[in-house]
Amino acid sequence: MTRKMLVTSALPYANGPIHIGHLVEYIQTDIWVRFQKLCGNTCYYFCADDTHGTPIMIRAKNEGIRPEDLIARMHGEHLRDFTAFHVGFDNYYTTHSPENRELSCLIYERANAAGSIVEKNIQQAYDDHEKMWLPDRFIKGTCPRCKAENQYGDSCDVCGAHYQASELINPVSAVSGKPPVLKESTHYFFRLTDYADRLKQLFAAGYVQDSVQNKLEEWFAAGLKDWDISRDGPYFGFEIPGHKDKYFYVWLDAPIGYMASCKNYCQRNGLDFDKVWNGGEYEIYHFIGKDIMYFHALFWPALLFAADLRRPDKLFVHGFLTVNGQKMSKSKGTFIMARTYLEHLDPEYLRYYYASKLSGDVGDIDLNLDDFINRVNADLVGKLANLASRCGPMLTGKLDGRLGSLDTAGKDLLASLVAAKQDIIADYEQLNYASVVRRVTAMADVCNKYTEDNQPWVVVKTDPERARITLTTILNAVRILTIYLKPVIPAFADKIERFLDIPSQTFADVEMTLEDRPIKNFIRLVERVDKEKVEAMIEQSKPAEQPAAGPAPAAEEPKPALPAGWDEPLAPECTIEDFAKVDLRIARVLKASAVEGADKLLSLELDLGGDVIRHVFAGIAKAYKPEDLVGRLVVCVANLKPRKMRFGLSEGMVCASGPGGSEVFLLSVDSGGKPGQRIH
Ligand code: 2FM
Ligand code: ZN
Repeated sequence: MTRKMLVTSALPYANGPIHIGHLVEYIQTDIWVRFQKLCGNTCYYFCADDTHGTPIMIRAKNEGIRPEDLIARMHGEHLRDFTAFHVGFDNYYTTHSPENRELSCLIYERANAAGSIVEKNIQQAYDDHEKMWLPDRFIKGTCPRCKAENQYGDSCDVCGAHYQASELINPVSAVSGKPPVLKESTHYFFRLTDYADRLKQLFAAGYVQDSVQNKLEEWFAAGLKDWDISRDGPYFGFEIPGHKDKYFYVWLDAPIGYMASCKNYCQRNGLDFDKVWNGGEYEIYHFIGKDIMYFHALFWPALLFAADLRRPDKLFVHGFLTVNGQKMSKSKGTFIMARTYLEHLDPEYLRYYYASKLSGDVGDIDLNLDDFINRVNADLVGKLANLASRCGPMLTGKLDGRLGSLDTAGKDLLASLVAAKQDIIADYEQLNYASVVRRVTAMADVCNKYTEDNQPWVVVKTDPERARITLTTILNAVRILTIYLKPVIPAFADKIERFLDIPSQTFADVEMTLEDRPIKNFIRLVERVDKEKVEAMIEQSKPAEQPAAGPAPAAEEPKPALPAGWDEPLAPECTIEDFAKVDLRIARVLKASAVEGADKLLSLELDLGGDVIRHVFAGIAKAYKPEDLVGRLVVCVANLKPRKMRFGLSEGMVCASGPGGSEVFLLSVDSGGKPGQRIH
């Protein structure tokens, strides 16, 4: 039985270009959609530009154009980049559309009628010079904690502190450079708590992956708060019905943009939108990053409950991209724009590499550039493409370009490939593309061995018909393996289909065989990744000049803080063997003192037993007074390589945990123990 589905990716902001971090999600979604289509399911992929909010309004002003012109230009650029990466939307729309205005007003009015919109007066920063209200990201000043200048109104880039904009020292508007004033204004809030029970039921029905469920429970435990869905004018967005100069906050109309894109598609293709979205016939899935979980797991379904509209079936949440194990960085040249990538490299390398790393969980994925080069060259080029490029030209060059028949050994080999079909389908369905790639690579190894064993390039000289049988087997194997990877590398698959002179293949074609028929001339499938091109791409991605001190101008609408730790990328994988190298010892604090010029650090002298004394700097000054530490037993990483710090040499590390600042807790050794004793 075939299925019907609506699938979306998060809507990218219309005020910046697409980069390789964005592409994780669009490639992940596109692979899934292509897979569903290749299984014969009806699957529509909808997306749009997220066009509203203060940053877009300000950027347009700085460019001296209207926001409408800015978002039109961005729409073109985004779609061009996505298309180049073979991301095949069924509709790529905009949130600044009549459909979105109409649906946003409808949902708001239904929520209001349900009694879930409340009015509150709030104090907010106002730029009296520019006559505009200032979101926290548009206020800059000196960090109240570390005194770094030129920091945003919500957090400090230097010391990582989070604070209220009102705590900034010498605050100024990032727009006019003048100090803001505090002003009162009426805002409209959505009462999220009204939907708590229904949301819990939704989660119990499997709305998110299991690995994400805990986070939802943390949010519930912390208490659901009313959500401010309004902004004062001037604001680029939709005016709230009945409230002059009040606009929907961009995050209210952004998810509604999924529906609006669907509605626009339905109108243009003779489908009944109400039936498609609400009729229950279509499954609805959103692919999102973990940074926007709160909106999609709580606000969005709650709004749909309020408006009595169909909720999505499931969120597929993915992690962040790191490059070479670290956050993408402009100065390191790893903050790579889609356009820059395309100037140097084939988009299918990235699709293939991301697929090889994506397994459907919320963990971060790392683009390690050496591994990227190796994997593409060794596996995609060296194994799969190699099978075709060894056998195709031989058949066309020496054997009239005609496939022969299969012998028993060939049929057995192909049967073993066909047998993997259901596992591959199950992997795709669960977004475990990494497993698909591993399976296909292993099968390509078997096929390469078969080729080696049969030596068609030798046999062709003495027994051409025997060689034809081998080549027929291999080219059939190439066809099957290519169908398996077609969702990942559609352009590669297209070349194989043209070369084998067959119609566009689907998963239903896996079992068939090609025999006694002509093929076309071989088409070069994929080049090896050239390391120099990767290096040139990195160089081009580095800023031309060192950026000025302080944070770059706000790029996007701020998001609510993530649960602790979620905004930090996972460190590169460490094996149990790596971990076992860490030698943890009990140590007694002999001396402790403050460090001049480093208000987070304490200088500790530790007794590790057997006359071993170590000097260690620990970032625990906000949590512990030096005098309270003397005599305490702590846990120390005893074999850490000594590290030269600005204040002196640190010869180890004391173990502590907690979110930071005053909430840092030394690992306690309550049960006693002696300095030098090893902890396992
Ligand atoms: O975080 C972002 O980039 C948002 N533009 C995503 C919006 S997704 C949806 F809600 F529209
Ligand atoms: Zn700071």
